[in-house]
Amino acid sequence: MTDTTEAAATPKDRVLIFDTTLRDGEQSPGASMNLDEKLRIALLLAEMGVDIIEAGFPIASEGDFEAVRAIADTVKGPTICGLARASKGDIDRAWRALEGAEKPRIHTFISTSPLHMKHKLQMEPEQVLEKIAESVAHARGYTDDVQWSPEDGTRTEHEFLVRAVTIAVEAGATTINIPDTVGYTAPRESADIIRMLKERVPGIDDVVISTHCHNDLGMAVSNALAAVEAGARQVECTINGLGERAGNAALEEIVMALRVRGDIMPFETRVDTTKIMAASRLVSAVTGFPVQFNKAVVGKNAFAHESGIHQDGMLKHAGTYEIMRPEDVGLTKSNLVLGKHSGRHAFRDKLRELGYELGDNAFMDAFERFKALADRKKEVFDDDLRALVDDATTSQSNDRIQVKFLRVISGTEAPQSADLILEIDGEERRHTAKGDGPVDAAFNAIKALVPHEASLKLYQVHAVTDGTDAQATVSVRLEEGGKIVTGQAADTDTIVASTRAYVNALNKLLVRREKSAPSCSVSAAE
Ligand code: KIV
Ligand code: ZN
Repeated sequence: MTDTTEAAATPKDRVLIFDTTLRDGEQSPGASMNLDEKLRIALLLAEMGVDIIEAGFPIASEGDFEAVRAIADTVKGPTICGLARASKGDIDRAWRALEGAEKPRIHTFISTSPLHMKHKLQMEPEQVLEKIAESVAHARGYTDDVQWSPEDGTRTEHEFLVRAVTIAVEAGATTINIPDTVGYTAPRESADIIRMLKERVPGIDDVVISTHCHNDLGMAVSNALAAVEAGARQVECTINGLGERAGNAALEEIVMALRVRGDIMPFETRVDTTKIMAASRLVSAVTGFPVQFNKAVVGKNAFAHESGIHQDGMLKHAGTYEIMRPEDVGLTKSNLVLGKHSGRHAFRDKLRELGYELGDNAFMDAFERFKALADRKKEVFDDDLRALVDDATTSQSNDRIQVKFLRVISGTEAPQSADLILEIDGEERRHTAKGDGPVDAAFNAIKALVPHEASLKLYQVHAVTDGTDAQATVSVRLEEGGKIVTGQAADTDTIVASTRAYVNALNKLLVRREKSAPSCSVSAAE
């Protein structure tokens, strides 16, 4: 559970944690986040002690640019990094977004595998090498912290990889990141590539070698750790392993593996592991991506001991079946907390204990919701409060569409119906719709009041706690013209939570539409 005396006495090499939840994580279809959400995550990552935050890809969209700029201007402590392809336009845009940062980093990349150069870039290898020298030198014109990545690095021929990395180092890159873009490598190969570069690239010892692993074959964390053992000193990862396809190496798994197995992997990070659960919950709440129950470190069952033999062992000595303590990752027991007579003081203290620091308006809003919840629900647990606060911060009082009233008729006799009042841009509108069940009826009423072409991609309900009076957290994912948004809401009434989650997604869609067409208005039905 802890380091042995001998291992603890050995000085440990520092491994930098580069979090790319807001860039590579956000590239996961449906995981898009708005500026406020990105800022909240970045602030929590900074509090956790992450070394570098990759805040986005500024050229990708106006929203990405604004988010990187807001994080660069606001978040102090970690290095703030922005991604750029190997073009001057990308790099200039990245710098505009990053220039306010205390410690800015430009991360530029280009593909180097034969497959990518031929089919994706349609460039000759020599042209790619020229681009590397040009792009890294251009980025160095702005900052002396430049990271370079050969995309599809692990499928790049070794001779060419050595030439490419050598050119990047000569041009001034200070971090060389080797991506396993398609999650194809395996631990031994991942380590061999790092060792090979350390042996063959002149000047490599003066730069930080980084590893960036995708999880297509479920080996991202193992591949990243193998790279560290071979000499990488930066690991790129995401909270909950979020990321394209099967995701990226999970930050919490990397950090806890290095901590728990410091005896055989003598490396340390500066991450405050007690913030891990808060980060996991926040990312899950914001993206609507649930954490799988048996996910290592942060899954609901990661510390649950069901079998009699295990429970007996745990009672005698926790170390029998537990290699890390729940409190090390910030997991507190779901205690019975407050009742309907609890005051503001107790409520604020409890929120602080759970890691929430709310502004005055958000606090008052959350407090009112808590009172309403305590009236309806006999017992209010920590998880209820988390759902309540996440819900309060997901839906905003300035949202253009607000749910004002809902009454549904459900039961064995069809058709089920929903009578709904929405406030749309300050004006109340009412509609009653039928449907195949109460949720369908409520969604039909929303569609009648706010006509739209978005299609429903995901509808998901989770019980926050046990019991029939448990709150339900509902996620709704909508897609319109390639734009994907996820809305969330929590309520003890599943139909109310579903309606508010749908409306939350629509509000996000409106914000995204406005960004691409500034004059757009909500088209409410007459
Ligand atoms: O997976 C990848 O290749 C990337 C690069 C942009 C670093 O995310
Ligand atoms: Zn990636």
